[in-house]
Amino acid sequence: MNKRVLLVKRPVGWVDPSCFTVESCAEPACGAQDVLLQALYLSTDPYLRGRMNAGTSYAPGFELGQPIVSRVVARVLASGHTGFAEGDLVWGFLPWALRSVAPRGEGLQRIDPALGRPSHFISALGMPGLTAWTGAIEIGQPAPGDTVFVSSAAGTVGQLAGQFARRAGARVVGSAGSDDKVAYLVDRCGFDAAFNYQRTDLDEALRMHCPRGIDVYFDNVGGSTLEAALRHANVAARFPVCGMISTYNAVDDAGVRGLQAVLNKRITMTGFIIYDHVHKLPAYQARVAPWLRSGELVFHEDIVQGLENAPAALIGMMQGQVIGKRLVQVAAE
Ligand SMILES: NC(=O)c1ccc[n+]([C@@H]2O[C@H](COP(=O)([O-])OP(=O)(O)OC[C@H]3O[C@@H](n4cnc5c(N)ncnc54)[C@H](OP(=O)(O)O)[C@@H]3O)[C@@H](O)[C@H]2O)c1
Repeated sequence: MNKRVLLVKRPVGWVDPSCFTVESCAEPACGAQDVLLQALYLSTDPYLRGRMNAGTSYAPGFELGQPIVSRVVARVLASGHTGFAEGDLVWGFLPWALRSVAPRGEGLQRIDPALGRPSHFISALGMPGLTAWTGAIEIGQPAPGDTVFVSSAAGTVGQLAGQFARRAGARVVGSAGSDDKVAYLVDRCGFDAAFNYQRTDLDEALRMHCPRGIDVYFDNVGGSTLEAALRHANVAARFPVCGMISTYNAVDDAGVRGLQAVLNKRITMTGFIIYDHVHKLPAYQARVAPWLRSGELVFHEDIVQGLENAPAALIGMMQGQVIGKRLVQVAAE
């Protein structure tokens, strides 16, 4: 039997396990030109929270009673499409199911195992990595000596954003929600400083760790961290606005205080959605794959085993239990 994870209830506030059902189901029907896939790794991502409700302009809401869909690495079990052969590794937006079918192979992207680990194609070598590069380098434009502050710095995007900015010569400071994450950032990822925002006053921490002010704030969380970054920003600072996870489970919009700093300090705040930059993925992969292979770019994955554990894996990621990228492995490579 096949198995899949369905959304059965729309969350109000925090997501809880009752929003999901893991069920056994029939094997998917595979037409003559279709590609039958065995899922290997499922990606858990913060934007899935929005898709459990109405969705956004770039990602529509999931239908109740239908599977969760995210980026998935899969192996081709059978193919009626000339572009794919049995045994090929691919990634695409696929349902949370052990096996699924891509009609006529649509949306599947080939994985070149010589470039990197298969799981990296939905993490460091995939769209999350490109997100970090686009925000930290293309929008942030860090110059040598600039101070770059990254929030949710020990997460998937944050760990890479900080390391990319550091390679550009900036002084990099990260915030994260536990002492273990802070140690990971400083000891493993080479951040110049990091602090636990759960246990520190934000203003005190930014005064201490960014004594010359903030030139680039890579925003992953919004809320009070964004407000503090506005207070400590320098004139002409750049704020790549990547995400606002502190608001994703909120029922009311608390607003942002201190926005007048954008005017007074001539700050450029640039929201970006990575789907607009997807054409840059091959060049990004070619640039970053050697850094990952040599180990000069550090990237931590937290891999949960088993499809039935996917809902808890997603909830735990949203709650901050994870260092790095959380994936769910549902079959052996
Ligand atoms: N613009 C785009 O196209 C794009 C693409 C990908 C991702 N994103 C966004 O980028 C951000 C990071 O995504 P990711 O995939 O790398 O996730 P992630 O950082 O690996 O995981 C989420 C982390 O968010 C932190 N968090 C949760 N609630 C928080 C709160 N109230 N305040 C501060 N931090 C909180 C937690 O870490 P702590 O322990 O540190 O709290 C948690 O581990 C998200 O906002 C996501 O929506 C945007």
